[in-house]
Amino acid sequence: MIEYKNVTFRHKSGTVALKEINLKIGEGELLAIVGTNGAGKTTLIRHLNGLLKPSSGNVYVFGIDTKKATVSTLSKRVGMVFQNSDHQLFSNTVEEEITFGLKNFGYDYVKAKERAETMMRFFGLTALKDRAPLTLSGGEKKRVCMAAVLAWEPEVLVLDEPTVGQDFINKKKLYQAIVETNAAGRTVIIVTHDVEFIWPLQPRILVMSSGRIVRDGRASDIFVDEGLLRSANLIMPQLAEISNRIGMAPAALDINQLLEVKDNWLRI
Ligand SMILES: Nc1ncnc2c1ncn2[C@@H]1O[C@H](COP(=O)(O)OP(=O)(O)OP(=O)(O)O)[C@@H](O)[C@H]1O
Ligand SMILES: [Mg+2]
Repeated sequence: MIEYKNVTFRHKSGTVALKEINLKIGEGELLAIVGTNGAGKTTLIRHLNGLLKPSSGNVYVFGIDTKKATVSTLSKRVGMVFQNSDHQLFSNTVEEEITFGLKNFGYDYVKAKERAETMMRFFGLTALKDRAPLTLSGGEKKRVCMAAVLAWEPEVLVLDEPTVGQDFINKKKLYQAIVETNAAGRTVIIVTHDVEFIWPLQPRILVMSSGRIVRDGRASDIFVDEGLLRSANLIMPQLAEISNRIGMAPAALDINQLLEVKDNWLRI
């Protein structure tokens, strides 16, 4: 459904941010992309809705060559929440920000308003609906961006560092939104350094380094490989580490699994 074929990307400054990327992402996949700062993660995903076009090679999204499509056509199907919210927000109010995409993509006024209200309620934004998005806190801004994109239910949801600045409750909301979106059969792609957040999701993981994909595998393999994690400037998720140390394989996905094992041991 998504395919990168020999994609190399050179920024105007001359930096080669992607080097011969070959990658296929299937419909309904849950994918996380990790790697050091500057590894090329943001550059990689910005090719998905045509914001960036390959310097050489091609990216196909639903069979469409992104070089031959406009950003707005692709964005309807590939919704992207940017790393920096200030690059995304442009409306006068939170409510307008969330209804903009909906109206643009064909929802009538009443449906758009209803949908926006549901999204604002979910993300705890209702009390902020008349505020200017650019005057919000960092965490609030991110949630407005998230609500605006999730509102039109794009077939592919791309999140660039979604957990940055979110408190515990809002991270849980975000987690729920990701699980529900993916359970509905839609593809979700998450760029993150937050291994604790993605560990229980057990996504397919791409590890990037210096513009290349250096590993592509399951979280249960990649997140227990200390050398690989070190090369990506990451540390092992705590549950994976505790499970490893007590010789529990496969590693626990949540605290309840770990406690269950402990209880079984106490009974022995
Ligand atoms: N607009 C730009 N002009 C020139 N070089 C850029 C530009 N944007 C990114 N780069 C360079 O391209 C490389 C990849 O950057 P990218 O933003 O894709 O990294 P990243 O993996 O998303 O990093 P981070 O974890 O810090 O977000 C880096 O060397 C960066 O300095
Ligand atoms: Mg980035």
